[in-house]
Amino acid sequence: MNLAVIGSGGREHAICYKLKQSPKIKNLICIPGNAGTQKIAINIKEEISNFSAIYNIIKKHNIDLVIVGPEQPLVEGIVDYLEEKKIRVFGPDKFASQLEGSKAFMKNLCKKNNIPTANFGIFDNFDDASSFIEKNGSPIVVKADGLAAGKGVTVCSSKPEALKNTKQILDGKFKSSSKVVLEEFMKGEELSYFVIVDKNSYKFFGTAQDHKRVGENDTGPNTGGMGAYSPAVLFTSELEKKINHKIIEPTINAMKKLGHPYQGFLYAGLMIRDNEPYLIEYNIRMGDPECQVLMMGLETDLVKIIDYATQNKVANLKIEWSKKKLVTFVLCANGYPFTYIKDKEIKNLNNFKPGKGTQIFHAGTYKKKNKIYSNGGRVLNITSSAKNIDEAREKSLACLERLNWTYGFYRKDIGLKAVKNK
Ligand code: AMP
Ligand code: GLY
Repeated sequence: MNLAVIGSGGREHAICYKLKQSPKIKNLICIPGNAGTQKIAINIKEEISNFSAIYNIIKKHNIDLVIVGPEQPLVEGIVDYLEEKKIRVFGPDKFASQLEGSKAFMKNLCKKNNIPTANFGIFDNFDDASSFIEKNGSPIVVKADGLAAGKGVTVCSSKPEALKNTKQILDGKFKSSSKVVLEEFMKGEELSYFVIVDKNSYKFFGTAQDHKRVGENDTGPNTGGMGAYSPAVLFTSELEKKINHKIIEPTINAMKKLGHPYQGFLYAGLMIRDNEPYLIEYNIRMGDPECQVLMMGLETDLVKIIDYATQNKVANLKIEWSKKKLVTFVLCANGYPFTYIKDKEIKNLNNFKPGKGTQIFHAGTYKKKNKIYSNGGRVLNITSSAKNIDEAREKSLACLERLNWTYGFYRKDIGLKAVKNK
């Protein structure tokens, strides 16, 4: 089969790496890709929101199946566009993508279907929003309704901070959002839970714990994710049943009733409190960097999985996972998550040997005259597998030290929670 992957991050490199291991793969293209995907796929430079240009690339390369990595083209309706042109594509349609694309849509769906989530209010004017803040006090979570590249959520510890953030959103800070969602602050431990969904059925697709804050011990501003480990320590089969029964199944059923059955990866960001799951958010795609650890742990052929999913045969799949523990460290460019340095060479990466059980997935990189440079906030994902998290951590940390990229930084405490809880 000829496959195309859309996106250019560590997630897409990890997806390409896994697809490439399949005996079913003939040609693999990545649009636009990065210096990592370039080694294993044909990169084709194109804007991911330019659907007609993407369609032309797909036709030219005789692509049988398209996998969409990031949320933006999904929310903009790439699946509807390509399906109309009879292209097989894996991901939710524009309507179903509102599960991530509109927090108001997601919260209303939860309320209607009794899905456990934080209490909330949705507002399009400042007066009503400020009375809600006055009434509910702090801490309170202020969210832009639409996509905001990971910058739309602020956990506010005081009323003035909540009012300020609310005003900024209602004043148009994010083009995607004219509404603000205000939420009760939930205490607990976060868990990323993944399923693969087709129009008939769904299957477990792994768990992980992300590290969103930029600083060690979960301090500083939120990022896209500084690292992840898998499986998540707090995950049990008892919890799995509750998540499926109280959150995943009511969501899938609700989407069917709305006439837009969900198809794609579905990523539930959960808060676990007293062994009960609460939905924080949905993502309509794999997580980044969670995907990197899951792709290293996945033992079943990914081409087969996606092929089955797009034919609504997920129920017939047996998806197998390695017993090993997995961890990924995100190497970031100095300055991230604010303005960061770019175009800095990562020396010797071309011939670098990461070591047994370690993979380097590229995120923000490009190649020029046989040298590799950075061009993103998150640059590389140093991903390792081992019989326990401690060893996996050591492998990645040793690799990062040898790499010694002086323009970047990383959190050294990724996965430590799993070590302590062992
Ligand atoms: P989101 O983009 O909705 O996942 O929010 C980003 C992060 O903000 C989450 O991963 C949580 O750490 C935090 N967060 C969001 N909503 C809540 C909430 N209601 N209570 C506590 N923390 C939250
Ligand atoms: N790691 C968080 C996300 O992919 O949204």
